[in-house]
Amino acid sequence: MAKLRTQVGIVGAGPAGLTLAHLLHLQGIESIVLERHSREYVETRVRAGVLEQGTVDLLCDSGVGDRLKREGLEHEGVELRFDGKGHRIDFRDLVGKSITVYAQQEVVKDLIAARLECKAPIHFEAEAMRLADYDTKPKIYFRQDGEVHEIECDFIAGCDGSHGISRSAVPERQIQITERHYPFAWLGILAHVPPASHELIYTYHERGFALLSMRSPEISRLYLQCGPEENIDHWSDDRIWRELQTRMATRDGFALKDGPILQKSITPMRSFVAAPMQFGRLFLLGDAAHIVPPTGAKGLNLAVADVRVLTHGLVGFYRRSECTALEQYTECCLRRVWKCQRFSWWMTSMLHRFPNEDDFSHHLHLAELDYLTSSRAASMALAENYAGLPFDATGLF
Ligand code: FAD
Ligand code: PHB
Repeated sequence: MAKLRTQVGIVGAGPAGLTLAHLLHLQGIESIVLERHSREYVETRVRAGVLEQGTVDLLCDSGVGDRLKREGLEHEGVELRFDGKGHRIDFRDLVGKSITVYAQQEVVKDLIAARLECKAPIHFEAEAMRLADYDTKPKIYFRQDGEVHEIECDFIAGCDGSHGISRSAVPERQIQITERHYPFAWLGILAHVPPASHELIYTYHERGFALLSMRSPEISRLYLQCGPEENIDHWSDDRIWRELQTRMATRDGFALKDGPILQKSITPMRSFVAAPMQFGRLFLLGDAAHIVPPTGAKGLNLAVADVRVLTHGLVGFYRRSECTALEQYTECCLRRVWKCQRFSWWMTSMLHRFPNEDDFSHHLHLAELDYLTSSRAASMALAENYAGLPFDATGLF
């Protein structure tokens, strides 16, 4: 068995693992990244699209933002649509911020390119099988090309998403899971058709939620609320377009043009928080520790916020032999996680139809949206959360 040695062993090359590896490298801290899928797979996997300004700033300030600045679509607001009418929330006016639409797989591509350029270790098709001794001298056992290898490291960063092995390496009794499942899912499509609007449109309709987003001036990304057990094969392209058109219709004749669907998938919705996020020398980051429903567009941004906190702690450890910041990792991350959980839950509850909702509930949805779009105070609260809660002077909270 080959034995490798590094300072930080990183499991997973999603946004969390790659951003952590990149920031640590800039601080002179060594790491090895393990990814169970191929490079091509992670660079083409369609997921998030909305980056908060703080995430954009971090990527740009750390030298991986050139393409993001060139190709990212900066938006200064979003539309909330209900009762056949659209209402714009102007982030720039309300909180002086913007968001950027730039696909998650493009962030991943940029970070992988940076990693390879500085010749730092990253192994694809290398699956972590087991974590050991994370309280003392951590080890990661991984399989590549049919052989098992060992990494001995000072710390393990579990960045392996919601179905990874890092969280399950911890005995169940040491970890508290708080979760909520929603009685619906999102059917998402990528379509070769110019976006029908310059900005995102979040729609509440009696038949359920719909969202218009985009990836480029030629490619639209759209989602619609569907049942949690829905079978994608029952959704023909024609049925998807008709449903989107019905939900997004306005009284003044908004036309959603259809086009070839390039990809479609169904994502269940849930909220999930694991606490603590640190177990000795094992740290959980991103989706490995928490999941939010995508309505608030927070998941990737939260993963990057965890990375800020862990990088700060590890820099303190290696430069000044200080453990205080590392010991505060869970507390520091969870403050933001729970605020984002609250926001994502609120957006989800306001914009979706729950089973057995009566006419009274329907009017409550409409009244809440009416209040939100007509009160500057309420619009400001949405804008502040959506564009990204500010970080304090330390850049961590
Ligand atoms: P992941 O991206 O899941 O990466 C984990 C990696 O670990 C994967 O590459 C996986 O292959 C690898 N791995 C797993 N197990 C192992 C193992 N044993 N060994 C080695 N490697 C392993 N977030 C936003 O901020 N904005 C949005 O607009 C947004 N929209 C979304 C829309 C949808 C439909 C969905 C599903 C999610 C959306 N999100 C959004 C959430 C966002 O995609 C996730 O929060 C983000 O991917 C989390 O990054 P991560 O690095 O923690 O995990
Ligand atoms: C996306 O573009 O994929 C997207 C946008 C906004 C969301 C979720 C996903 O809330």
